[in-house]
Amino acid sequence: MQVDTKTDDLSGTLLDWYDRHARQMPWRVGPAERRAGQRPDPYRIWLSEVMLQQTTVAAVQAYFQRFIRNWPTVADLAAAPDADVMAAWAGLGYYARARNLLKCARAVVADHVGSFPDDHDALLALPGIGPYTAAAISAIAFDRPRVVVDGNVERVMARLRAVQTPLPAAKPTLTALAAALTPQTRAGDYAQAVMDLGATICTPRSPACGICPWRAPCAARRQGIAAELPLKTPKKPKPLRYGTVYLAQREDGAWLLEQRPVRGLLGGMLGWPGSSWQEGAAPQSSAPPPPIEAAWLYRGEVRHTFTHFHLVLAVHHAQAHHAALPRAGAFVPAPRFDPKALPTVMRKAYDLVAQSPPRVHPD
Ligand code: ADE
Repeated sequence: MQVDTKTDDLSGTLLDWYDRHARQMPWRVGPAERRAGQRPDPYRIWLSEVMLQQTTVAAVQAYFQRFIRNWPTVADLAAAPDADVMAAWAGLGYYARARNLLKCARAVVADHVGSFPDDHDALLALPGIGPYTAAAISAIAFDRPRVVVDGNVERVMARLRAVQTPLPAAKPTLTALAAALTPQTRAGDYAQAVMDLGATICTPRSPACGICPWRAPCAARRQGIAAELPLKTPKKPKPLRYGTVYLAQREDGAWLLEQRPVRGLLGGMLGWPGSSWQEGAAPQSSAPPPPIEAAWLYRGEVRHTFTHFHLVLAVHHAQAHHAALPRAGAFVPAPRFDPKALPTVMRKAYDLVAQSPPRVHPD
């Protein structure tokens, strides 16, 4: 059989598939609205794309809905107190994204009269908007023929053209292949179509080649190597760091928390006072003195993985006396304490203490 891989045919085939199988997402417009010429709101596209970096569509949906409920426009978000936005972001991780989100919203209001610019360079100049996000907003919100390349797109391109160079070295080749296929019209739908294809059919481990709209032109499928691609240069194993956190609760229910320094990991988020996180040090030997005088109990450890390291945190808990003065942090009264506003690793420590009764001494 003659396999036709002409660019127009490829993008056309995929757009036909997208018209029938696009995933519904709260920031997308449906097929009927699309046909009527309705475009998605750039604010929603920007918000969703920032949230989707490093986070799955499934995890993002509830956060997205909450943000839109709280702050329906970019001007509303720009006017929000920092702490409210950081609390609403808690659990999504990569907290620099949330700080940049606010900076970006404020820049859009201050420099672009409250509307995202339909200009790739102007988008790139905004805080927290890199080449990927600028291309995604240009394509999806403004229908500009920008090339949008994320991990899904890389995988789909590597398979379609059977690229055997491992990632990350293959990135420029995969971007060039994606660029060659990007159509001049409906570039936004096309970008989302490739991402949907990668997320639902051309999946990492067991691609559903039998129902793929690109099964005929796919070189990796013909060679029987689709599931093996893209090849990846092995990553260095992540180092293991240790730390200690102290969870103190007063008789009136208030919890002792501190705001983490703005620069650095979990910057600007609320957290439990404790040690710095060091490689190879046993938790007890590196623990600083507790942040308040109390009868401290070791309650166990929690584990969390960040981009560049695994973390083991030793969790200590105490009931603090009303009169005791903290050396670090400040007490947050019970009615204002919301564990959902903590970053995930801090939430894990809270859950450990909240869910398990304190160890009772035999005497
Ligand atoms: N992943 C990131 N952005 C996406 C989008 N707009 N559609 C589908 N998957 C995505």
